[in-house]
Parts: sequence; structure tokens; C-alpha cells
Amino acid sequence: MFGERPIEMGTLGHEVPVLRHIRSNSVYVSLFQSAFPRRREPKDVISFETVGRAIAAFQRTIVSANSAYDKFVAGDRPALSAAAQRGLRLFRSDRMQCATCHKPPFFTDAVGTPHFHNTGLYNVDGAGGLPGPDQGLANETHKKVDIGRFRTPTLRNISVTAPYMHDGSMKTLGDVVDHYASGGRAAQKGQPSPLRSTRVQGFEITSAEQGDLIAFLNSLTDKTFLSAPRYQTPYR
Ligand code: HEC
Repeated sequence: MFGERPIEMGTLGHEVPVLRHIRSNSVYVSLFQSAFPRRREPKDVISFETVGRAIAAFQRTIVSANSAYDKFVAGDRPALSAAAQRGLRLFRSDRMQCATCHKPPFFTDAVGTPHFHNTGLYNVDGAGGLPGPDQGLANETHKKVDIGRFRTPTLRNISVTAPYMHDGSMKTLGDVVDHYASGGRAAQKGQPSPLRSTRVQGFEITSAEQGDLIAFLNSLTDKTFLSAPRYQTPYR
């Protein structure tokens, strides 16, 4: 809420109007009163402490584990279409190596100790540079080797979260697969990033295989999770 580098929620410097806004909302007043019943003073019921606790408590309930892929893993083999099953094998293959970074069950290697990778999206200066001020992990470490390295995002529910990549520069999952197949988007212009991961060096893929891989990515969509009333706005 208060982060400045980068600004996420922009609360810093706007504490008074933000609290006033939440406190003037009757839906939130009653929800906070029932969540924090022992606090008597109105200013203690809705404060940045209780707002932070409420958000944290909510986030801990956000668990998505009922996709077709999850059912398949739990033993319901027909839950995953034949195409998606072929796509899963490609996803885990030595040729494509997706699963080495997007590790099941979370489809990321950022659980616990986060790992950061350069997928070769950009090479604006011949040295692997990115356009604009966001140079990835290097913005924090100031090391050249960290330019363009980003935390591996989860792929759960990936079909509903376009556009893709840290800067939203890819519209479709097809664009993303083309990016990896070419050894990083920068390589499509003949200028692969010298900083790209050894695991993003490009591979052959047929259009049928591309369809299978995307069918697998779509099988990570958890419709019961996405439509569950408890994750919807309280203003219903
Ligand atoms: C070397 C580690 C690595 C490998 C191998 C890898 N990825 Fe990624 N993937 C990443 C990182 C890091 C990002 C985030 C890049 C960014 O934001 O600029 C990412 C982003 C993505 C995204 C976009 C996620 C989003 O929310 O925007 C998709 C989809 C994806 N990868 C699928 C794949 C597929 C399919 C493969 C195999 C063909 C693959 N990845 C191989 C590390 C990897």
C-alpha cells in the first residue's frame, strides 16, 4: 500500500483521504465491525492496521486448485483433454524446459527463495538492455547480469490474465510461445539478448504442438475459483 519503488497502491502521502474514504463506506463499516468486534473506537475499527490485516486474511484464502489440470493430477484422467495432455508433456520436455522455471504445482520457482530469469524479451542496446526505466532485478541490485531478470510468474489461470509479461507487451499465449520458440522475442529481429537464460535458447515447434501447448496452458484455468462469490466485490 505504501510502496514507493515502484508505487503500487499510492497510499503514501494520501493516508487521511484514503482512510476517510473507507470509513465513509457503510458496507465496509459493518464488515470491519464484525471482523474486529473487540475494537470500540471507530478510529480503531478501520485503521491501516485493520485494513492490512483484512487484506492479508483475504489473500490467504485465495487458493486456486480446481482446474482441469488439478483434477487430472488427482486421478481424474479424462478431465484433461488429449490435446492438453500432449501439451503437458511438451511443457515438461527437455526440448521446451518450461517446467524447469514454471514448476508445478505453483508453476513458478519463486516459492520460498525467489528465482529471477531473463527470457530474452529485449536487447535495445546490444548489451541486453530494456526500453524504459524498468530493467528488472538490476533496478534493485545495480548489477549488469541482473538486467532483464524477472521473478517467474505463476501460470495458474493464465488464460484470463492477458496481456502478458512484466510490461504487458504480449497480447496472446500464441505470442508467448512464439517468443520462447525463437529464443526470446529479441531474437525474432536477429538480435538475441546476450543476457537471456541458458534455458531460453529456442526450439523447433510445429503448429499442432503449439496448439497442444496452449491447450495445456488453458487447462490451468479454475472456473470454480474465478466465479466463487467469496472473491467477488462485497457490493452485491
Ligand atoms: C528460464 C526460466 C523460464 C523458462 C524456461 C520459461 N519461462 Fe515463462 N516466464 C519466465 C519469467 C521470468 C517470466 C516473466 C517475464 C517477464 O515478466 O518479463 C515468464 C513469463 C511467462 C508467461 C507470461 C506470464 C504472465 O503472467 O505474464 C507465460 C505464459 C510463460 N512464461 C509460459 C512459458 C512457457 C509455455 C514456457 C516453455 C515454452 C516457458 N514459459 C519457459 C521464466 C521462464
